[in-house]
Amino acid sequence: NWSMDDFIDQQIEKIRAEVGDKKVLLALSGGVDSSVVGVLLHKAIGTQLTSIFVDHGLLRKNEADQVMESLEGKFGLNIIKVDAQKRFLDKLDGVTDPERKRKIIGNEFIQVFNDEASKLEGIDFLAQGTLYTDVIESGTSTAQTIKSHHNVGGLPEDMHFKLIEPLRTLFKDETRELGEKLGIPHDLVWRQPFPGPGLGIRVIGAVTQEKLEIVRDSDWILRDEIKKAGLEEDIWQYFTVLPGIRSVGVMGDGRTYDYTVGIRAVTSIDGMTADFAKIPWDVLQKISVRIVNEVDHVNRIVYDITSKPPATIEWE
Ligand code: XMP
Repeated sequence: NWSMDDFIDQQIEKIRAEVGDKKVLLALSGGVDSSVVGVLLHKAIGTQLTSIFVDHGLLRKNEADQVMESLEGKFGLNIIKVDAQKRFLDKLDGVTDPERKRKIIGNEFIQVFNDEASKLEGIDFLAQGTLYTDVIESGTSTAQTIKSHHNVGGLPEDMHFKLIEPLRTLFKDETRELGEKLGIPHDLVWRQPFPGPGLGIRVIGAVTQEKLEIVRDSDWILRDEIKKAGLEEDIWQYFTVLPGIRSVGVMGDGRTYDYTVGIRAVTSIDGMTADFAKIPWDVLQKISVRIVNEVDHVNRIVYDITSKPPATIEWE
């Protein structure tokens, strides 16, 4: 007779027994899994937990603030927030290949994390938000790698920490249920999937500060209108991309030559296959009008109507 309340109590006991009076380190990504681990561990061992949150500048609008507000503000986690935007931008300068971008972002994440972790003393444990599906997937080597899926949570092996993985037996939906039980805000718990490399793979080709702002601002408008239309739970994933092409437009009396923004929205069960979401025309129209009016340097919006396969969900 399995219940989530029992699970929480058991895990807390287990964590306390294992950790004793030692210290634990956690890498927060802003996603569901690491947030749930953070709150659970904090409940179990309080200030013996230190979290590091690397802001790589590739998060969505307000995301970093929301993480800090809810996890530090509401739950009182001790979080070291590292503003590493410039480091990541410098490393990505001029890089256009999607897989190289993923590697650079993943490696830089580890470096920044290491730099911070090495300033701390007496840490014995590293906590991770590994789920049951991650355990299974890493056990099979037959799956063909289409994209490297470099998760920004992947951490160095040479750090010699003992691992704590309290979600190892849970599926994603159980992790969300656990998050709700622990009182984590609904928005965070039900957040749509977001790739580790973040907006870095939604600016197609070379990443610049200006292009990141265009993706971030247009993505925010898209999410706002999807929410207002009550479609959040019907669409698996929705975001904007910046392909980097420019086209001619007209604004007032003048000719413009500005960027095209792509809207990607899909329905899916597990992300392995997907269908483009049939967002009502009037909602798409509102999104289009708002993005062109509110985001500088955008004069055209296109809607991606391919399924997966043959397309992938992300454009890179
Ligand atoms: P694709 O684009 O391969 O995406 O159809 C399937 C799902 O995986 C996410 N995705 C990633 N997640 N690191 C991640 O953590 C990555 O490098 C990465 N690439 C794609 C994508 O957002 C979708 O949910």
